Amino acid sequence: MEKNVITIKNLVKHFPIGVERFTALKNVDLILREGEFTGLVGPSGSGKTTLLNIIGGLDSASEGSVSVLKQSMNNTTHNERAKMRRKYMGFIFQSYNLLPVYTVFENIELPLILNKMNQTERVNKVEQAIEWVGLTNKRDSKPNMLSGGECQRTAIARAIVHQPALVLADEPTANLDAENSHHIMKILSNLNKELSTSFIFATHDEKIMAYLRRIIHLGDGEITKDEIIDNPKAHN
Ligand SMILES: Nc1ncnc2c1ncn2[C@@H]1O[C@H](COP(=O)(O)OP(=O)(O)O)[C@@H](O)[C@H]1O
Ligand SMILES: [Mg+2]
Repeated sequence: MEKNVITIKNLVKHFPIGVERFTALKNVDLILREGEFTGLVGPSGSGKTTLLNIIGGLDSASEGSVSVLKQSMNNTTHNERAKMRRKYMGFIFQSYNLLPVYTVFENIELPLILNKMNQTERVNKVEQAIEWVGLTNKRDSKPNMLSGGECQRTAIARAIVHQPALVLADEPTANLDAENSHHIMKILSNLNKELSTSFIFATHDEKIMAYLRRIIHLGDGEITKDEIIDNPKAHN
């Protein structure tokens, strides 16, 4: 049985700019296996977000094939991709995108409501996610009462509450201090170990890199290096 979570072959992405076009990704080949904890590392403008968006089905390839969780992203409709994201993927962004009128609990519960999960199961799952990220004492607070680190932990709980197979994180620690960044990376690396959730992080944060087991380097839309690394923090 295929254990590839992501299989990308000859991916090219052009963006139209007036009558010209800009090539943001050039011949990207990439395989990600189940349970990987991988970084997509490169300077600003190297194509990290574009690649994550294509993997998550938020954008589409100009050329090449992209298959995610055994599903070809080339041949799916907008609705099929949305359903796939809701069921099997989690997204963590630099901005937390929490709904201000909802509490921590309600923000985390929202994706389960969209997945039409019944209330008993929902409450169990939300409680579990809140415990994972260590926010039990903040469950009834609204986002404006939380610190940046607590907001990001809420956003993480919302991204993983349905226990997705794949989590895509785009610069998740960009707005956090060192202590909060380490805290968050520990939570995510524990989830990776306990649930075999696959992670891909777009980042240029050294603090994140210390936890990764594989780093894919991007430069000008191309993979320039793909390395397996032996990080002491990755074995905790
Ligand atoms: N919608 C778009 N239209 C035109 N150019 C874009 C668009 N999105 C991204 N780009 C360009 O593609 C390149 C890669 O962008 P991005 O993937 O956001 O890089 P990164 O996340 O590594 O900073 C950049 O030069 C950016 O300006
Ligand atoms: Mg980016």
